[in-house]
Amino acid sequence: MSTHDTPVYDPNDATTRRNPFPLYEALQDRDPVHWSPALRCWIVTRYEDVKFVTSSATMSSDRLRPFYNALKDERRDILSGVMRYLDLWLVFKAPPEHTRLRRLLNSVFSPRMVQALEPGVRSTFEHILAGLDAQGEIEFMKDLAVLLPAYVILDMLGVPRDDFGRIKAWSDALRLFIGTAQGEGDKYRRAREGADGMSAYFRELVARRRAEPGEDVISRMIAARDEAGALSEDELVACCMLFLFGGHETTTNLLGSAVVALLENPAQRERLRAEPALITTAVEEFLRYDGPSNSIARVVAQEHELGGRVLRPGERVFAMVNAANRDPRQFEHPHTLDLGRTPNRHLTFGQGLHFCLGAPLARLEVRVVIGGLVERFPRMRAGSTPGEWLDAMIMRGPERLPLVLQ
Ligand code: HEM
Repeated sequence: MSTHDTPVYDPNDATTRRNPFPLYEALQDRDPVHWSPALRCWIVTRYEDVKFVTSSATMSSDRLRPFYNALKDERRDILSGVMRYLDLWLVFKAPPEHTRLRRLLNSVFSPRMVQALEPGVRSTFEHILAGLDAQGEIEFMKDLAVLLPAYVILDMLGVPRDDFGRIKAWSDALRLFIGTAQGEGDKYRRAREGADGMSAYFRELVARRRAEPGEDVISRMIAARDEAGALSEDELVACCMLFLFGGHETTTNLLGSAVVALLENPAQRERLRAEPALITTAVEEFLRYDGPSNSIARVVAQEHELGGRVLRPGERVFAMVNAANRDPRQFEHPHTLDLGRTPNRHLTFGQGLHFCLGAPLARLEVRVVIGGLVERFPRMRAGSTPGEWLDAMIMRGPERLPLVLQ
């Protein structure tokens, strides 16, 4: 943070990475709609403003196309193979295309379908636990938090778990383009290779499911219909990529920060152990307290004012969800972890049209894992060396988390 009156937002600052909340509070108080000259974007931190930015029609969700269209060199050719699929992701779309896709996918991804997954999620958790050294130190992120959401989404899509290594490498390559602000050498070429690998894989899987339908999500997406017909081949492939991409890392990071929150708040942990039914409100509190969707990006579509500043078409806006979730204007004692907190209208799954399609699944996974850990390992404690946190701009969560279970 700067020593001057106006705080400066620098997501790479080590202190901010570890604990961005004092900076968020300073921004909320002194510069709630903050222009970052270094990042060339708006940083919005108050609850009401974040809610507005993520749901207003004055903002566009299509934050990749303008960037892509502005490219003139060979990077544009390289990225064309990535954009072919990302252009079809509903998270970047506006009505009426968004409405059609979302309606078709809502019918596939219903809360009832997710409820039916619970026994499978529990047995996946047991299976992963059985392979861990419960007496020694584990690396919670790698050994559990990465595997559980990945296996759940792979099982849902009907993808063999043995293929996870390949799929994860493609997904990481794609993330270089979508999820990081940093420029890394050949990141566009690698993102293209990721998109090529993953799309070819799912194209083949879609063909197999067409020939031999099952109970999996791909078969259900193939069968989904509305008055305009079915999802196209490219849409099916793009949806598989989006589910895989959106469905594992966010949940992984949330599992990590939930464990950190419990380690740092032993009284709350004991409260949950003594009263397991608290898990439902506890999950919401983990989502609020230090959630994985640190910010949601938009591009200004129409000129308008926000907090006394003029936002112009084409400018990028980052709605800082984690700041909003600790805004004292909305939450009492915002920096206190209260596993029984109600009401708890956090913004971690977004707002309005784009509200997270996978929210019921994410909630189920966290309920099973955190509820299970607290019950089984009441004495779990932090291991040897604490790890760093991921970047403080888009994704938030611990990079590594050494943990002793008992
Ligand atoms: C803790 C875990 C998760 C968090 C915090 C999270 C967060 C979000 C957020 C903030 C959005 C809205 C983005 C925007 O407005 O631009 C979103 C959308 C979405 N999420 Fe999640 N997500 C999680 C898990 C999942 C899972 C497990 C899936 C499942 C496959 C999933 C699939 C999606 C999809 C498809 C959308 C796009 C919805 C639309 O645009 O209509 N998410 N998620």
